[in-house]
Amino acid sequence: MTVSYNPITSDPFAAVSATEATSRHASLSRQLVGGTPVLRISEPFAGAGHGFWAKLEGFNPGGMKDRPALHMVERARARGDLAPGAQIVESTSGTLGLGLALAGIVFGHPVTLVTDPGLEPILRQMLAAYGAHVDIVTEPHPTGGWQQARRDRVRSLLQLDDTAWCPDQYSNPDNVTGYNPLGVELIAQLRHVDVLVCSVGTGGHSAGVAHALRQFNPDLEVVGVDTVGSTIFGQPAQSRVMRGLGSSIYPRNVDYDQFSEVHWVGPAEAVWACRTLAATHYATGGWSVGAVALVAGWLARTRLADTRIAAIFPDGPARYYGTVYNDEYCRAHHLLDVPVPTGPRTIDDPLNEVATSWTRCGSVVDPTRIRRAEPAS
Ligand SMILES: Cc1ncc(COP(=O)(O)O)c(C=O)c1O
Repeated sequence: MTVSYNPITSDPFAAVSATEATSRHASLSRQLVGGTPVLRISEPFAGAGHGFWAKLEGFNPGGMKDRPALHMVERARARGDLAPGAQIVESTSGTLGLGLALAGIVFGHPVTLVTDPGLEPILRQMLAAYGAHVDIVTEPHPTGGWQQARRDRVRSLLQLDDTAWCPDQYSNPDNVTGYNPLGVELIAQLRHVDVLVCSVGTGGHSAGVAHALRQFNPDLEVVGVDTVGSTIFGQPAQSRVMRGLGSSIYPRNVDYDQFSEVHWVGPAEAVWACRTLAATHYATGGWSVGAVALVAGWLARTRLADTRIAAIFPDGPARYYGTVYNDEYCRAHHLLDVPVPTGPRTIDDPLNEVATSWTRCGSVVDPTRIRRAEPAS
């Protein structure tokens, strides 16, 4: 990694001046983050002559969220919300944690990451190696699950340090605009995009990339991919095996109006897709990559061959050796030896029908708006 301090002799958390931070940021951004490749994915996900383009964000050093992490920190410093050398505290399932660890090094901030026991051991070790403090909550919130428990813990940590700053990736608009360059790269690589397929967690990358692509194609279709058991698109909260995509809260960055349809994918289907991607295209990743590939492949199969479909693959496989690619884990969770997923079941009303395996719905609702519209009892 090219950073402009000597890690042996300098204090990595020494406050970095605006000019120095800007030049480090410019240099790291140019050399390490962005400029990720696209790869054509075809059979067996799509039929002969059909396919989609995968944007391989796993080529960033920490994954897709290196982009918004650097952007959110830079913007907060520019606004004066984050003072030089002040602590960054955030709730994360891992990917933003990697990006914030990078931003902490670039801009000279200590980073505390609040996560839960599901964090993969390799990630915990790497985050510590990158200098972040990892704080693990031990109990889920009774209704808001692990995510709410993490957010509550962030709140109490912020109360202990009045200079600390929380990026709040769930509602920070800079999490969305941080993906503008990704959209611009896609246009440079593909020239035109008809359909964008994105996993949804905070809603940041689907909103940001869609906004950028719409400047070039106002008729862009956006397809959201969630996990079974996630509340984002109106399903009841259930325990979830898949991490990264999905939520047990309603993140404000989810731009419901832009989605033309949503798919929920189950963990066994995502495992099949991840392992099949590895065996047929070498490029693969984690839960969200598998889920997105499954949906993008189905869209490619069911659309005209010249429909240009772009799918965002948020990360690579390294973090998932103990889960998606681990036979013992997969057997224990009944994720192997399932029928090859061929297509989704279709439902009309996500508020009244529960998705337990790959399911799609052609009308997307914002569950918070529906709830607000209900008369008070
Ligand atoms: C691996 C992975 N995939 C997908 C997502 C969802 O992305 P977004 O938060 O931009 O909706 C996340 C979010 O944490 C993630 O970590």
